[in-house]
Parts: sequence; structure tokens; C-alpha cells
Amino acid sequence: MGRLIVVSNRVATPTETKGSAGGLAVGVFGALKDAGGVWFGWSGDVVSETVANAGPMLEQDGAVTFATVGLTRKDYDQYYRGFSNATLWPVFHYRNDLARYEREEYAGYRRVNAWLAHKLVKLLQPDDIIWIHDYHLIPFAEALRSEGVTNRIGFFLHIPFPAPQILLNIPPHEELVKSLSCYDLLGFQTATDQQAFHDYVTRHARGTVSADGSVEAFGRKLRTGVYRIGVFPDEIAEQAKRYESRQHVLELKQSLEGRKLIMSVDRLDYSKGLVERFRAFELLLERSPEWRGNVTLVQIAPPTRSDVATYQKIRQDLEYEAGRINGRYSGLDYTPIRYLNQQYDRWKLMSLFRESQIGFVTPLHDGMNLVAKEYVAAQNPDDPGVLVLSIFAGAAAELSGAVLVNPHDAIGMCEALQRALQMPLDARQRRHEINMAALRENDLGVWRDSFLRDLRSVPVRRAGEGGGHQ
Ligand code: G6P
Repeated sequence: MGRLIVVSNRVATPTETKGSAGGLAVGVFGALKDAGGVWFGWSGDVVSETVANAGPMLEQDGAVTFATVGLTRKDYDQYYRGFSNATLWPVFHYRNDLARYEREEYAGYRRVNAWLAHKLVKLLQPDDIIWIHDYHLIPFAEALRSEGVTNRIGFFLHIPFPAPQILLNIPPHEELVKSLSCYDLLGFQTATDQQAFHDYVTRHARGTVSADGSVEAFGRKLRTGVYRIGVFPDEIAEQAKRYESRQHVLELKQSLEGRKLIMSVDRLDYSKGLVERFRAFELLLERSPEWRGNVTLVQIAPPTRSDVATYQKIRQDLEYEAGRINGRYSGLDYTPIRYLNQQYDRWKLMSLFRESQIGFVTPLHDGMNLVAKEYVAAQNPDDPGVLVLSIFAGAAAELSGAVLVNPHDAIGMCEALQRALQMPLDARQRRHEINMAALRENDLGVWRDSFLRDLRSVPVRRAGEGGGHQ
């Protein structure tokens, strides 16, 4: 078996993979350790041209090499802050209204992909398999192919793939899909995302799609599949329980003075439906006076991409809403919304989830949403909380034990909260069991292993062949 090469915009540090980094980092690192290989990507630093060109920086941990490069200010602005996060991210989350398109940024995006690919080529061996992650790196395989790389290359998209009518808003949409067709295997979070890609191929690229998900487009053949990213639920359950008597949990419990607790944790991103969520909670207090003073919403929202204008705006909006609602319903000893712009340790969060009666996860669009899965896994099976989940999170396709809501329907969300707050124990337990069974059946290991198995089964390419297996 050849080595595994993982490429993602962000690379976890060796220490993070052993601690409480996000489940994804742990899952990917597990596969790297088994096969041996390289994890390659951006170091997270903005550096001078000399330092950027001197990279990659290599750090060895057993059979795994962490290889990272810094980006120059111009590359960071055009590739990361520009085309990735001001064009692709909003459009792929159905927010054309927040998207902008600049030719120079798109050129920078392709240039950085080519530059990164060139750096990686030197680290490759002939029988390595290469797994590229997420929207920052759509042209990566095309760039590797143009350097003569014939290894198997797969791509997994962690965010939604938009319906064709939406994708058409990005002027170079065809080039992007053509770049995607240079992969041997494309993985999506849900059948809806895969279908949207197939629709583009058949309607706008004169391509064909077979029943098994194989695609022919732009003179290339590739496979597509659905791989729902998961968590390791039993590990989360164990850690949440282990942390439940720690100081931070006791302090929270004491401060609640017996009130019910609703928990939400998201990066501070406009795709997460935070304003809509606050308004639904406000409606609960407005329509059901009996809950005033008796229920608290804890929203943890660490700021992210704060040098992109749309993220500054959502932060302002949310601060305004939290202040307004708290001004309206606070008492001398009661604050309805506790809004925290801080990053919390993962195991701490899991233990807080375990204390709460509701996990309120209501994105407007989300590839999967691992917080929803983590919330379920962290619950105490003897007295589980209820997950109130948006129908627009990929996780909704699996978690049929959740109370599903449409985040645009404030009254519907408010009613769902009322229902969840009053749900009897047996109903909560039944829903929890259904959700846990889904999490166990499709855990993070299944996601990773099935993608890699499918990628390894793609026929090997002969030297000189173009993109996509023939
Ligand atoms: C999403 C994306 C990831 C990204 C993460 C954090 O989950 O799918 O690719 O790494 O957000 O965003 P950031 O811009 O801080 O890397």
C-alpha cells in the first residue's frame, strides 16, 4: 500500500492531532499514521517572499511528515481572503448577495494552487495516493497533472456544492468544474451536493453521469460519491462524562440556578444563521412569558476570517441583536443570552453540551455540521438533551431523531424550542438512541476508510495521460 498525502489549506500541528483538535484532524491523522505519509498545506502565517519560497517547513512525527508553507501578503489576500472566502464560500453557501468577484483574486487563487502543487511535487513518490480537501484547492489536481503527476488524486468538498443556477454566478464556473474533473474521485457530504454537481455536468458541461456516480465531462472520466463525515461518538461520550465534574461545568451549573440551558457553538459566520437563531429565542421569551427568567441561551461564537468585510458585518449585527434582546428581557439576576466570542477547548465544550437541555444548531446552509453530531454524542443517555437542527445542515439527512426546523421560520423555531424544552424523558431517550445509532453506523472512520478505499480502487493512470482516469 502506497503512502497517503493529505493536502488542506489548514494543517493541524503534531501536538493538536494528539490533543483535543477537531475530530476531522484526528481522523485524517489516524489514516496518515496507518499508511505513513505527508500532511501538506498553509502554515497559517503571512511571510515575506523569501521565507515563502524557502518552504516547505518539515516536521516529522513517526511515519508522518507535516509540511507547511507560509503565504505572502498578496497570496493571502487574493487566494484566501479573496477568491476562497469572499467568492467561493458565500456562493457555495447560497449567499450571492454577499459574494464579490475580482479577476485578479481568481488569478491569484489559481497561481497559489499551482505554486503549492509545485512545492508538493518534490515530496511525492510514485505510488502515493493524494487526498485534497475543500474549496481552497479546487485547481490543485489540474496543477499537479500539468507537472506530470500520474498518482491517484481524490478531492473531498467539506461545504455544500450549490445548485447550477447558483454556481453560474461565479464567472469562471466552467473552469472550476473543469478543474474538478481532473480528480479521479470527488467526494461530497450529501446526495444533494452530489446531485448538484451532476446537474451542472449534464446541463452546462455537455457531460454524462452514470447510475454508479461515474462522470464523463471535458474529455475526462471520474468517479463521484457521497461520504458523510462523522465523529467518533463513543469517544466523545466518554470525554464529556469524564469532564462533567470539572470546575467550569460546576460554575456554569451554579450560575444557571436551575434554569434550562440551550447551547449553540459556531464559528462567527453568516452561514450559521445566528441572527435568525437569536430572534427565535427572543420570540420564545415574547410568546411564552413563563420561560422568561427560566431559560438561558449560551452562544459560543469564536470570530473567524475577521479581515473579510462580511464577517465584520455579521459580528456587528449579532452584537446589536444580543444587546437588544438582553436589554429587553434581562433582570438584575438574569441575562437571557450569554454571547461569548471565545474559542473553547473541545472537551470542555462536550461537557457543557452534556449539561444542556437543547442543542440549537440552525445554519442557513452547512456542508455537514459536526457540532450537531458532537452535541448528540455528548449527551447523557439517562437524561439526554434534544437536538434542534436546521433542515439545511447536511447532518439533517442522518439525524432523524432531531427536531428539524427551517431557520427562516422564526415562529417554527420558537415552537420547536417549546416542544424540546417540554419533551418527556422517554421521547428524548428514543430520539437520542436513534441519533446515536446513526452516528455509530457512520462514524469518522467509516467516512475516511470508504473514501480512501474508493480512491485506491481507481485504475492507475499511465504516464502522459491527461486529467481524470481514462
Ligand atoms: C470550514 C471549512 C474549512 C476551514 C474551516 C475554518 O469548516 O470547510 O476548510 O478550515 O471552516 O475556517 P478558516 O478560514 O479559519 O480555515
